[in-house]
Order: sequence, then C-alpha cells, then structure tokens
Amino acid sequence: MSHFPAPKNDLILRAAKGEKVERPPCWIMRQAGRYLPEYHEVKDNRDFFQTCRDAEIASEITLQPVRRYRGLIDAAIIFSDILVIPQAMGMKVEMLEGKGPHFPEPLRTPEDLQAVLDYKVDVLKELDWAFKAITMTRMKLDGEVPLFGFCGGPWTLLVYMTEGGGSRIFRFAKQWINMYPELSHKLLQKITDVAVEFLSQQVVAGAQILQVFESWGGELSSLDFDEFSLPYLRQIAEKVPKRLQELGIKEKIPMIVFAKSSWYALDKLCNSGYDVVSLDWTWDPREAVKINKDHRVTLQGNLDPGVMYGSKETITRKVKQMIGGFGGGKSHYIVNFGHGTHPFMDPDVIKFFLEECHRIGSQ
Ligand code: CP3
Repeated sequence: MSHFPAPKNDLILRAAKGEKVERPPCWIMRQAGRYLPEYHEVKDNRDFFQTCRDAEIASEITLQPVRRYRGLIDAAIIFSDILVIPQAMGMKVEMLEGKGPHFPEPLRTPEDLQAVLDYKVDVLKELDWAFKAITMTRMKLDGEVPLFGFCGGPWTLLVYMTEGGGSRIFRFAKQWINMYPELSHKLLQKITDVAVEFLSQQVVAGAQILQVFESWGGELSSLDFDEFSLPYLRQIAEKVPKRLQELGIKEKIPMIVFAKSSWYALDKLCNSGYDVVSLDWTWDPREAVKINKDHRVTLQGNLDPGVMYGSKETITRKVKQMIGGFGGGKSHYIVNFGHGTHPFMDPDVIKFFLEECHRIGSQ
C-alpha cells in the first residue's frame, strides 16, 4: 500500500498506458513560471536554484498552475530544472536574470571532462532537496492530479555542460562529439547513469509519471542522433523500470520522451521503450499518427505555443485541428504545447486554451 493520498484524477496515467479515456488529459510544459504573476510574488528576488532547493517554495510554485486552472489541468510537474544533474555531477551552474543558465567553468578540455568522470556522484545526497520537494508536493496535491518527475536528456545536458549555456551554433558540443567521440560517449554514459538513478529516486519520493527533455535533439543530424542521443534515451527507458523494481516499486510508471525537433527519429522513438512520445509543433498530427503505426505509443503535444498570441477564434480552430489530427483525443493522446510557455503569455488566454481542449476533446 502506498503511503500517499489516493488518486482522484488518473486520466494522464491511463492515457499514457494507452487506455481509453473520456477526454484527452491536459498539461503544459513549463506550466509553472514566469507568465504567472503569483510565481513572481513567491520567487521575489530569490536566486532561481535557491527557489528550487526550498521544498516549501518549490512545491508552492508547482501547485500554482494546478490551483489557477483547477479542473482544467491533469498533471503537476515538480518545479526544478534539467541542470540540477550537472550540479549533482560537481559543476557550478548559475541562472542569470534575463539571460538563462551559465556555467562559469564549462568542459572544454579532455582534462576538464576527466575530472567530471572521476567525480563520484551520490544522487540521494546531492539531490535530496529535490526528493523532499517531490514528497511534500505529492502530499499537498492530495491526489488531485498526478505529479511529474523529470530530467534532461544526456545529449542536451552535454550541450549545456560543454557550451556553458545556451547556444546558436553549438561550437563546443559539436567539437566534443567530432573531435573526441569516445570521451563524449563516456560523458553521455555517466549522465545517463545519474539520470536513471535520479528519475528512479524521484518515483520513490512520490513522482507518478516521468518525462525526459532532450530539448537540443534537433541540433544533431539524424545519424548523430542515432549515435549520441537515442542509445542513451533508450537506456533510460530500459533501466528505470529495472531500478524501480530493485527499489520495491511495484506499479508501472509511465515514461515520456520529448526530443525537440528530432522529426527524423519519430519512428525509432516509438520503439524506444517509452510509453509516450512528445512532439514539437512542426508536426502535422496526422503524419505523426501515421508513423506511430498500431498505436505503439501515446502521442503528446503539439500546439505552437505562439498560438497563445492569437485570437480566440484562431485558438479554437487550431485546438480543433490538433485534437482532430490526433484522432479525437479519446485514446493515445495527451494535450500539450510543442514546447514550453513563454514569460509574455497571458494566463487567461492559456485558461481559454485549456477550456477549449476540454470542450472539443469531450465531443
Ligand atoms: O513548470 C515546469 O515545467 C517545471 C519546471 C521546469 C523549469 N525548467 C523551470 C524553469 C522544467 C521542466 C524545466 C526544464 C528545462 N530547463 C528545460 C527543458 C524544457 C525546455 O524548455 O526545452 C531546459 C532546456 C532548461 C534549461 C533552462 N532553465 C533554460 C534554458 C532557462 C532559461 C531560459 C528560460 O526559458 O527561462 C531555464 C530557467 C528556468 N527554468 C526558469 C524556469 C521557471 C526561469 C527562471 C526565472 O524565473 O528566471
């Protein structure tokens, strides 16, 4: 018996497993954060990672969209960041106001990389704050909606660890995989090992569904994706359930992969061990459904977040196209954006979007 409150809404868990549902479950990547005035109120002038590390504050921010969109949102996602894995691996990461992530000492030489490989990572100790926040949030949710745990994809984390932040041309990450492919593989393997343990321990702490964000997937050629991303994404899908068994978790935990802009990999991702594949907005849903032959996975996505800057009529039309394109939404489909919210979005417009998804998805 679980020591957590009984679930009152398990729509997303059922849809992820391919069961028939009354309407498609809805959630939004980056549903907590800067577009919500209540986020700024709570975060105040605190440093971003300090916010994540304070269980009370992180769980409050996680609950904000669930509260604001009560009855419209079918999942919560723990407030944290994909860059907490590099931090756990001994790297310093700062979040610069208005600029994004910054690594003061990115990996630029084989010696830098060797130091990270030699660093012994104690996931339970380094990330204990994340597990505390998850447990507290799961209790506070009181079964209202399931709670997501997540992590970054290994390739995406390699990009941040070598570039030192975001990038346009990915000079350093590309240098690593092309100049030092073997060392790059060693780093990807180490990140994967940490990710498997981190995701598994998030479930022990109370996460009920997991998503892996391979946000820079589309920066790789199809062939390089097969070499530097896909094998590690597969390993995560294969090893987490095994680790969960060792840890005494009996139920099946649905897993989602989001490899942004890796359109060429959809067929392979449908066979990669994940229950759900999340799509960016460049997909015509009907094409994706065709490629996902025999409903091998549940598809998630994929409205262009930019539609939130449009008129109500446009939002309604595009929600119809999306849900219709995914087959009506009564099975093998989860509503989401094709990427995260932006800080400029109007929370009331997002509410309208969610209401339309409910209305159209219930028909
Ligand atoms: O609501 C949620 O989705 C949960 C929290 C969450 C955050 N980041 C909070 C955050 C999640 C799931 C992430 C994942 C994440 N972080 C990704 C993968 C998803 C994606 O967008 O592709 C990536 C690439 C990152 C790395 C990252 N973190 C960047 C590039 C930035 C700066 C740019 C930006 O979009 O803000 C962050 C900062 C960050 N992570 C903020 C939030 C709310 C903004 C921090 C602030 O308040 O200034």
